[in-house]
Amino acid sequence: MTDRLTIRRPDDWHVHLRDGAMLKAVAGATARQFGRAIVMPNLTPPVTDVAAAEAYRARILEAVGPDSGFVPLMTCYLTDHSDPAEIRRGYETGVFAACKLYPAHATTNSAHGVTNVLALGPVLETMQRIGMPLLIHGEVTDPAIDIFDREAVFLERVLTPLIRAYPALKIVMEHITTAEAAAFVAQADHPIAATITPQHLIINRNAIFEGGLRPHAYCLPVAKREAHRLAVRKAAVSGSPRFFLGTDSAPHVVGAKESGCGCAGIYNAPFALEAYLQVFDEEGALDRFEGFAAEHGARFYGLPLNEGSVTLIRTPVEVPAMTGAGETAVVPFLAGRTLAWRLEA
Ligand code: DOR
Ligand code: ZN
Repeated sequence: MTDRLTIRRPDDWHVHLRDGAMLKAVAGATARQFGRAIVMPNLTPPVTDVAAAEAYRARILEAVGPDSGFVPLMTCYLTDHSDPAEIRRGYETGVFAACKLYPAHATTNSAHGVTNVLALGPVLETMQRIGMPLLIHGEVTDPAIDIFDREAVFLERVLTPLIRAYPALKIVMEHITTAEAAAFVAQADHPIAATITPQHLIINRNAIFEGGLRPHAYCLPVAKREAHRLAVRKAAVSGSPRFFLGTDSAPHVVGAKESGCGCAGIYNAPFALEAYLQVFDEEGALDRFEGFAAEHGARFYGLPLNEGSVTLIRTPVEVPAMTGAGETAVVPFLAGRTLAWRLEA
């Protein structure tokens, strides 16, 4: 039995680092494990131009401290009014690594999101031409569509026409949750990949209702049936370069989750690598972990692999009931549970 695993330093291709006190409280958990992270732009107001991204990047670097070596990769929040010239300038000067597409009202701070993706012609043409990835929150927002079907319907209604119209546009389907999305990404004749979160590998939708309403198991896209969890697990451990690590760690202060209208988001950053590794171990796929965590994403983005390494040791570690205090008190994913691996300090 393998009891120590050393891999190239991994990256997190999807994280919410927030701002202000919460940024200061959570950024270290990501920087401790990951060399780089794709930082989501859904602040209030959202990060829609180069100046805002540079200022946010500076606040992140200040929060993680001068010696962390951590590299935040910034994203541009697309709106109906995004300017292709600004996006291109941001990409070509190394400020923007990608653009993020939130369908309007799909999730937290997405009110300024895009109402009709296919109307973004000049932006998408520019991104396709310069090779800039489009990161998609892939859910339709049509209230007539059942919330558990919104990802699968997005594949048909939006993603299929989009890849037909832009055959060379690099796309990442973020946080996939369904067998349909896993199959779509695995098989498409298109430069497309997907990130996968720890929660969608570990819980199914029963977790949201286990003995009562469990707000800390609620995120968007919402967890699906067990058959979907199994399909997403299979994709993650398959060794396909189209699937890679993206935690979607999304902290909300405890009162905003435990509420009459609780926010969507699971804070998994403190034990992200441990949670993923447990899944790969259970699947007998320890040999595929490094590709998923540290290689596939960088190659898809066209970035160099990280130098350096991290080591995980097979030893029990208990996830605390809470991290932070006051305005930064957050209940982490798998709070109170014991995980089988621990990241070596
Ligand atoms: O659960 C989620 N939380 N899904 C998202 O898409 C956004 C995120 C957040 O920002 O809290
Ligand atoms: Zn997210």
